Amino acid sequence: MAEATESRKQLVEVAGVPMKATTIDNWTQIQNFEAKPDDLLICTYPKSGTTWIQEIVDMIEQDGDTEKCQRAMIQHRHPLIEWAQPAQPSGVDRANAMPSPRTLRTHLSTALLPPSFWEKRCKFLYVARNAKDCMVSYYHFQRMNKTLPDPGTWEEYFESFVNGKVAWGSWFDHVKGWWNTRDRHQVLFLFYEDIKRDPKQEIRKVMQFMGKSLGEAVLDKIVRETSFEKMKANPMINRSTVSKSIMDQSISTFMRKGTVGDWKNHFTVAQNERFEDIYREKMAGSSIHFCLEL
Ligand code: A3P
Repeated sequence: MAEATESRKQLVEVAGVPMKATTIDNWTQIQNFEAKPDDLLICTYPKSGTTWIQEIVDMIEQDGDTEKCQRAMIQHRHPLIEWAQPAQPSGVDRANAMPSPRTLRTHLSTALLPPSFWEKRCKFLYVARNAKDCMVSYYHFQRMNKTLPDPGTWEEYFESFVNGKVAWGSWFDHVKGWWNTRDRHQVLFLFYEDIKRDPKQEIRKVMQFMGKSLGEAVLDKIVRETSFEKMKANPMINRSTVSKSIMDQSISTFMRKGTVGDWKNHFTVAQNERFEDIYREKMAGSSIHFCLEL
């Protein structure tokens, strides 16, 4: 236990957004990242279905060939631009070493995105998840992920989350920022809950956005292969090869539940009322609408 506690590092803020210290140490390299016009950037707030959309995009890119999707761990197939861990290649290093066209990934808000992504007019694929389920998922993720701060009790975590005192900052700012870019940039804005409700329809949207054309049988295969159960069993996805000192899956699994509405098992009535008030205040004026149960 002592070792696990010691390895947890505090976050450091950049422009008021808490981030991992190793990312901040690499901030200049990240901000100077040179995007290319044919880059596709997967953008998410943490725990919003990043891994899911990555596998969907990869399956589309590979024309539904599951073997090709096994070529590397999913976290390495689409490098996270802001990822940095000394002695290992950074996300920027990995992206620079990739052939084009590249699919890359970020959890950065619009305010912190390296400017060249805007300048090069890249395509952005954003997946949003309702804040309550996102908070629950992030809480369990922080319990098991020793590279992030200890989340404390659920009550304490609730306060951290609504105040944006978690890695990558405020869910509210993140979602609003990306929602507001969709008329000015090439953004496909998807919702986790929609993918859950009608995966084939949403996968088709992604395919069209990527400029691909796949037959019905391939689309059906992609729906099957990207189901929660299939992905949970896939060692190239489920982080089973990550050391227990980094991700302790005896505390909570990386592929945890994959449902809509788990927040109901966590939020007290009082927390839910307080959350609704905070949500109304922080999202005032935004036209975005989330589904909270299926
Ligand atoms: P839960 O913790 O609620 O289960 P990210 O990839 O951004 O870290 O998001 C992780 C969340 O997406 C987890 O949510 C995980 O279970 C869920 N997820 C991953 N793959 C999924 C899939 N194929 N179907 C549904 N949910 C999935």
